[in-house]
Amino acid sequence: MKRFVFRTAIGPLATFCVATFFSAAIPAQDILPQTSPPSWAYGYLVPPAPGVSAPACADARPISCAYPSTLVKVPEGGPLLELPGAAKTFHLVDVAADYGPADWYPNDHPVMPDIVAHGREKDGLRACGLCHFPNGKGKMENGGVAGLSSGYILKQLADFKNGVRHSSDPRKANTNEMVAIAKSLTDAEAKAAADYFASLPWTLWIKVIESATTPKVRGTTNGLFLPLDGGATEPLGQRIIEVPENPERTDKYRDPHSGFLAYVPVGSLAKGHALVTTGADPGVDVKDTANKKTIACGACHGADLKGKGDVPGIAGRSPSYTMRQLWDLQQGTRNGPAAKMMKGVVAKLSLDDMIAITAYVTSREP
Ligand code: HEC
Ligand code: HEC
Repeated sequence: MKRFVFRTAIGPLATFCVATFFSAAIPAQDILPQTSPPSWAYGYLVPPAPGVSAPACADARPISCAYPSTLVKVPEGGPLLELPGAAKTFHLVDVAADYGPADWYPNDHPVMPDIVAHGREKDGLRACGLCHFPNGKGKMENGGVAGLSSGYILKQLADFKNGVRHSSDPRKANTNEMVAIAKSLTDAEAKAAADYFASLPWTLWIKVIESATTPKVRGTTNGLFLPLDGGATEPLGQRIIEVPENPERTDKYRDPHSGFLAYVPVGSLAKGHALVTTGADPGVDVKDTANKKTIACGACHGADLKGKGDVPGIAGRSPSYTMRQLWDLQQGTRNGPAAKMMKGVVAKLSLDDMIAITAYVTSREP
């Protein structure tokens, strides 16, 4: 009976049954990972063991912050890879070239500034387009930069550079690299990259699925989740699991047209809707300030959550990225001058509240 509930679980009651069933009956290694801190938002299935962190950046070259295992060179040659509708073909070695990664769809976007297309090889500064893609969509472990205002992007680069924005997960080497990049950029490069990404639209890229279960995933060094072969599933629990819609196209081809799926807890969209639009849980008296857990987001992010001035759009963006930001803002590892406006927003939010808010804003049309 309980197993039946698990397989077909839809609705809050079912979520409850799943939770009780699994905490009682599943083997220890399958018990849902501890959810605080939300390591899944950083691309890890478990919290960091004490003392574990990314290697320290060996020198000022941003690439020196990366995990050595991610810098292994792919052999030259091999077959030319193709993608549907792509203007060009590439060898695998060129797909993820540090200083000139594949631009599958050059007609999608204006000409990239040199720093976006190539980075600055002599200083180990990898192309922005490698991690954020030429169209600015980025993957879950990086984040989307398309459709943000140029002013906002420059503020973030300044915050990374000034040491007021870093990851609260010590394993996140790519954020360390982002910090080093911001330190290395000239003002002219920063401005060119900011204007470029600001000129690109943010469009639908992530499909949200309310579910009691999720594909079982494995982590990768940089924080991309990939579903296990064979289609195994497991209880989602209080997490959001983001996976590529087509793992091969995302991971091997780095296809900037192939988006993500986000599995969110059953009931999180309704709860998130209430928190985002009223600042309070569903069904409570919103006029009673004691019920307010947060401030309705639309006031600053625009009623449609697509951004207003230099306040960034938050609709339809990576839920892993969004959750990391809410958590880092609450932890204080993201603490730049403008980020202080978010202090009162996150101060009283529980992990569950943040999950619900993230699920809802991800589900909004960008
Ligand atoms: C090695 C990968 C990598 C490269 C190369 C890279 N970034 Fe990033 N970037 C990241 C990661 C990772 C984050 C998210 C940090 C986090 O979640 O803690 C990020 C975040 C950002 C953000 C913040 C977005 C937001 O919504 O606040 C901006 C802006 C940004 N990058 C701009 C750039 C620019 C401009 C370049 C090129 C000059 C660049 N990045 C190159 C990895 C990279
Ligand atoms: C008082 C104004 C204000 C309110 C209300 C507000 N925000 Fe923000 N938010 C900001 C500002 C300003 C920034 C940009 C901070 C910076 O420049 O670092 C921001 C940044 C963010 C970011 C990071 C975006 C990125 O690209 O990195 C997220 C996520 C976010 N807000 C979510 C929310 C949510 C969810 C709510 C409602 C529950 C909300 N905000 C309510 C002002 C606000």
